[in-house]
Amino acid sequence: MAFDTLLLNIEDGVAIITVNRPDKRNALNGAVRREMVEALDHLRDDDGARVVIITGAGDKAFIAGADIVEFAERTPLEQRDAMQGRRMFDEIASFPKPTIAMINGFALGGGCETALACDMRIAARSAKLGQPEIRLGLIPGGGGTQRLPRLVGAGRALRLILTAELIDAVEAERIGLVDLVTDDDALRTRTLEIARTMAGFSPVAVRLAKAAVAAAWETPLSAGLALEREMFITAFASDDRREGVAAFLEKRAPQFHGR
Ligand code: COA
Repeated sequence: MAFDTLLLNIEDGVAIITVNRPDKRNALNGAVRREMVEALDHLRDDDGARVVIITGAGDKAFIAGADIVEFAERTPLEQRDAMQGRRMFDEIASFPKPTIAMINGFALGGGCETALACDMRIAARSAKLGQPEIRLGLIPGGGGTQRLPRLVGAGRALRLILTAELIDAVEAERIGLVDLVTDDDALRTRTLEIARTMAGFSPVAVRLAKAAVAAAWETPLSAGLALEREMFITAFASDDRREGVAAFLEKRAPQFHGR
């Protein structure tokens, strides 16, 4: 598939979506958002893509937020229209296969929110993260007020949102905003290693595990545990479980087919 604002590469079960506006620090304009949803639609049905990595082109930014140029001329009603319909952040958050934000530079505003919508965040040591919308007289609008406090706690989320302070990758890891920090030149290798590991496992089990953990955000514990049990049984019924157990007992590598 060809895009104007994204690059899409699929190799060894891992898809990499690269936001490709490096001269604008990969800011999210309408075209990026639209194309990201299209790319995810394509990857949802592509069995060759078992894990999706989202990153930014160049070495300066992951995504430096919403395209501020688009804000300049819009009326509130036009902005409301732009925020309705299928939203990129929600499409990423509800994507059935694992998603990793490979944070290679500034992840600000909508960029930080894009990372928050992913399952995992792996950041280069030099990356900077933050929710600086308040500087513009705005608040986060891509899930930052909801997903950030769930990840790092209300106090830390409010510090980022109300002070516009940018934090480095090491602090982001310390507060739980980032899951792993790598040296800058190791970011791609390490992220691909993790993605390929996941891509090698049963797609059925991976999908069910992701769905069960996702439910923990919204479900009371007893209902979540019941859901986990049902999903375990669903995994138990899969060909992949038979193959995984047989391979272990026969001391060979399993061949998973996602059934
Ligand atoms: N929207 C639109 N354009 C953006 C942008 C954004 N969010 N972030 C960067 N750009 C553009 C700049 O306007 C500039 O364009 P120009 O070359 O046509 O003037 C280009 O990207 C390079 O940006 P610059 O500021 O020169 O790069 P930098 O490396 O010195 O700084 C940032 C990078 C990310 C720290 C800085 O650009 C910035 O603060 N961006 C806004 C971040 C933000 O507030 N995001 C939340 C939006 S709600």
